[in-house]
Amino acid sequence: MSGGELAIARSVDFPAEKVYFHGNNKLREEIELALSWGVGRIVVDNIEELSQVNEVAREAGITQRIMLRLTPGIDAHTHQHITTGVIDSKFGLSIVTGHAEEAAAKALSASNLDLIGLHVHLGSLIFSVEPYQQAVKIIIQFAAQIGDRYGFDFREFSPGGGFAVTYTRDTPTPDVTYYASAIADSIQSSCRQLGIQQPRLVVEPGRAIVGRAAIAIYRAGAIKDIPGVRKYVSVDGGMADNIRPALYGSRYEALVANRVREAVAEQVTIAGKFCESGDILVKDVQLPNIAAGDLIALPVCGAYCLPLASNYNASLRPAVVLVNDGKARVIRRRESYDDLMHCDFV
Ligand SMILES: Cc1ncc(COP(=O)(O)O)c(C=O)c1O
Repeated sequence: MSGGELAIARSVDFPAEKVYFHGNNKLREEIELALSWGVGRIVVDNIEELSQVNEVAREAGITQRIMLRLTPGIDAHTHQHITTGVIDSKFGLSIVTGHAEEAAAKALSASNLDLIGLHVHLGSLIFSVEPYQQAVKIIIQFAAQIGDRYGFDFREFSPGGGFAVTYTRDTPTPDVTYYASAIADSIQSSCRQLGIQQPRLVVEPGRAIVGRAAIAIYRAGAIKDIPGVRKYVSVDGGMADNIRPALYGSRYEALVANRVREAVAEQVTIAGKFCESGDILVKDVQLPNIAAGDLIALPVCGAYCLPLASNYNASLRPAVVLVNDGKARVIRRRESYDDLMHCDFV
């Protein structure tokens, strides 16, 4: 999604040809960086970008493989901040407005672009397969139409990511095979029906891969009991390291890590330490009796927590510890106060 992500991928020698570069407003210098590094696909989001990528590719003397990101006009019935396939979205080329067809025609006649496929990302935390099935049908119909009208060779299709993970006990998640077979079956049947060749299928699960890989550990501090109202337990982090509850109303389970075997004794609300009343990590959770100093664990913090982290209130982003086979290793150090002043000229 950005030059920064390209730089990180490059720093660990991630194979450039496997990179799909997304973004609704890729900067010229980001496009230049992507092409000079040799990224496999630019997933073009709008018509203006199409011309820019063609221009940069021409200047570099290359032909760039691209996909078009389409908005099929489907509501994935998830939180409005994480639904992206609807017409009223900042992302993608809409099929119903004609922008998608215009972009496809332009891409196919561009001197330095190779339009190899179509992409759609419906949003995140999608618990049912219906939106994917609908999207596949719409995209494949579009591919067939573009094939007839402009000779488009549909070689690759990506239905994006969005596979859900279980954050709380009351929202169990479908198995990944449920999504996989529904998507694959709809591609096969749509292609068969329209008499077109099946494209290569590429998926982009994010959260479903890394979400469960991390547990956030906080230390309980101030405890405020308002009789008959609520008991707040404040911790040493909050919205600066996990903005999801404040941004999307996301819910988490919590555990007292040093008392996991103790019985539930009270209902508390886990609050962050930042200067916002909305800085609440988990509202009304049943836990054993908590005292200052206890460790509170929030599972499923491997996605959209640290990448969305900030230095709000000049706080320090936390360390990351990798635990593997009973061995622990710090793989990202905690920030220091010096880091906060790093970019300032005084
Ligand atoms: C284009 C695109 N693909 C894939 C993903 C991954 O989504 P998720 O983590 O919900 O699977 C995102 C997330 O924002 C995205 O924007």
